[in-house]
Amino acid sequence: MQTQLLTPGNIDIAARIIRSGGTVVFPTETVYGLGANALNASACEKIFAAKGRPADNPLIVHVSSREEMGLYARSDDRAFLLWERFMPGPLSLILPKRDCIPSIVTAGMDSVAIRCPAHPVARALISAAGCPIAAPSANLSGRPSPTEFEHARQDMLGRVDAIIEDGSCEVGMESTVLSLVGPRAVLLRPGAITPDMLRAVLGSDGLEIAPSLLQKLEEDAPAPSPGMKYRHYAPDAPMYLVEGEDTAVLRFLSAKSREAGCGILCWDEDVAQLDGSAVIVPLGSRDSQLRQGQRLFAALREFDGQPVKAIYSRTPSPDGLGLALLNRMLRAAGFNTIKV
Ligand code: TXA
Ligand code: MG
Repeated sequence: MQTQLLTPGNIDIAARIIRSGGTVVFPTETVYGLGANALNASACEKIFAAKGRPADNPLIVHVSSREEMGLYARSDDRAFLLWERFMPGPLSLILPKRDCIPSIVTAGMDSVAIRCPAHPVARALISAAGCPIAAPSANLSGRPSPTEFEHARQDMLGRVDAIIEDGSCEVGMESTVLSLVGPRAVLLRPGAITPDMLRAVLGSDGLEIAPSLLQKLEEDAPAPSPGMKYRHYAPDAPMYLVEGEDTAVLRFLSAKSREAGCGILCWDEDVAQLDGSAVIVPLGSRDSQLRQGQRLFAALREFDGQPVKAIYSRTPSPDGLGLALLNRMLRAAGFNTIKV
């Protein structure tokens, strides 16, 4: 398949492709998305084919206004309050779906994920296309999500009709996914909208945290969100999160850094203590979860193509944005941890 490379100046071409049932990779503030007309089942089939995505993993429907949310999902007061506070922005709400959303989009479920991105190019594309856009992250299934044009190009060239080239994604981790299907809101995927921010709107008792955010699902256990079942974000080499007291972790990473064939994912401040025999990828300052979140997926991709047999990583603490970082890193590591 021929893939056109577009710029934000060519939104009209991208919108025409979406309207005629094609696929377009576009930037959002979280990660690049792989979009198609959410009301066109055969267009959405192309998303699953391009990513190699399992058919039981539903897509997020991107809209540009609160009114559109109501066209595709049955929203309630909580959804309106959350919309007022956080949207447009990095939050996806799971709500009962309306019939116009084809079942391929929701993987046969009765609920649909709705998100209104803040990125101007994403918003312009949705408006110009004149339809809601179903879009997962624009990576091959299992790979780290693309936070730079170059990542999206690597994974999607020849698999989609067009890719819109833009800069790095500001947030760098995918949207917070919150289910409003039951009486209590359930956090299904942590992101830049943190539990404390959600509680400020929903009340301190109004939020449940899905235990599977930081734990491996048992084989055959039902997943509240199908995406939880799959290995995700994985670099080519096996990865291990190193847990323990700060000095013990640094001692372990420092010892590993003298072994050839090791990869080290660390804080910027650690680098001076490490030996150059290993492939060292600093994630950002230990004090800046914001920077670490922006960098995480690019950092994971940096190990690929390098002579690395195993990657040893710092473990973020699960407060604030750290919950999202830890969730992604545990999945990238297939939940492998080493206690020191
Ligand atoms: O930031 C984002 O959300 C990006 C950008 C492109 O908007 N999109 C994204 O999509 O991360 P994706 O497909 O990579 O992740 C969507 C997650 C999956 O884990 C999926 O299982 C879950 O949302 N999901 C979608 N619809 C759902 C539903 N009806 N019920 C439960 N989980 C759902
Ligand atoms: Mg994804």
